[in-house]
Amino acid sequence: MAKRLQQVECRNTTYISGDWPIIWERAEGANVWDVDGNRYLDMTSGFGVAGIGYGFTGDALREQSSVLMHAMGDVHPARVKVELCEALSEMTFERWGKGKGKCLFGNSGFEAVEAALKSAVMATGRGGILSFEGGYHGLGYGALLGAGIDWFRKPFEGQLAKVSERLKFPINGEELEIFSEELGKIDGSRIGAVLVEPIQGRGGIIVPPTGFLKILRDWCDESGAILIFDEIYTGFWRTGKLFACDWENVVPDLICLGKALSGGFPISVCVGSAEIMDKWPETDGEALHTSTFLGNPMGCAMALEALRRYSDVGCERMVAEATANLLAAAGSLLDLEFVTEIRGRGLMLGIQTDSGDRVIGAVKKMLKNGIIALPDGPVGDVLAFTPPFSVTVEEIDHALRVTLQAFTE
Ligand SMILES: Cc1ncc(COP(=O)(O)O)c(C=O)c1O
Repeated sequence: MAKRLQQVECRNTTYISGDWPIIWERAEGANVWDVDGNRYLDMTSGFGVAGIGYGFTGDALREQSSVLMHAMGDVHPARVKVELCEALSEMTFERWGKGKGKCLFGNSGFEAVEAALKSAVMATGRGGILSFEGGYHGLGYGALLGAGIDWFRKPFEGQLAKVSERLKFPINGEELEIFSEELGKIDGSRIGAVLVEPIQGRGGIIVPPTGFLKILRDWCDESGAILIFDEIYTGFWRTGKLFACDWENVVPDLICLGKALSGGFPISVCVGSAEIMDKWPETDGEALHTSTFLGNPMGCAMALEALRRYSDVGCERMVAEATANLLAAAGSLLDLEFVTEIRGRGLMLGIQTDSGDRVIGAVKKMLKNGIIALPDGPVGDVLAFTPPFSVTVEEIDHALRVTLQAFTE
């Protein structure tokens, strides 16, 4: 299958070697089966999508697809789009006591980021973007404006406007002080959007010190810039709270959501406070920002089901328990001299090592032994675990035994 793919897919897309990739056939819970019938334990949730396991929104998809698969998103939308907007408003800006939230849908996560960047321009009239080293917001041209990993950005720089300022993402109190000073030097009158992940994911699972988000909030309030939290990875209980910003009680102007929103359908959304979103002109029938599949009914139905299930199963407790199990099991890796730190929040755990080669070597061995994991960080030297919330203690212990073996054999 891999060889067939190689003939017909852009060669930059799927990495293919003798022992990579596996070709998926089906998935359920935290398990994936490949086309040869081998079973794997997925410690990535498929890039963070399978919140409480694979397939938990499947019934909603089947039901919705039997009556309506597609509607005319910005012209004649589906009932479920209305319901999803209401649910998202309720769980974001209404819950935060800021009145209604207003939604702008996309398909992939980067589209939610681009919708947010456009919303910031609408609200401020300013094109400048403040973003962070190590930041990852997806790979569309708009999202790349805020990219903090040069590797993704450099080849396309010729087509990217020079609108962004980039600051170091602080990792401790000392760096937070330096960051505050640097922020103070930035000319706020040019910046329309501050684009930030409350916890960096792809950048290496980096949790900034407490107070960082508040400093950004205050700076935006002073300068008039729009604060965008990209919670595409961290949203929907991944970190142990509904959104990562809930740990610090800092409310953004716009929040970007995707991945676990639907549990497996390409749907994303930028939700903003009505105050900001109403800076968009009212449409007279020609939307300034839309797409063919905007608010697709299957995606909306799956997202509504996901939100119901997240609330029914008690994600806070579920993630807290799984996190405790994961931390306990991962602790043994600290005995390895090349593991320098284990960090993260909730079910976003990063194991910092001394080299990208070491991590990719381990990840390949783990795959052979039935564990799906991925390297993270700009140079891939972080082994990341972001398992489904439903992962059991036995599964975690097994995954960590295989990890230890892969690192040491
Ligand atoms: C924080 C964050 N923002 C945006 C994206 C881009 O989402 P997508 O790949 O669905 O376009 C990702 C993807 O990993 C992400 O982690």
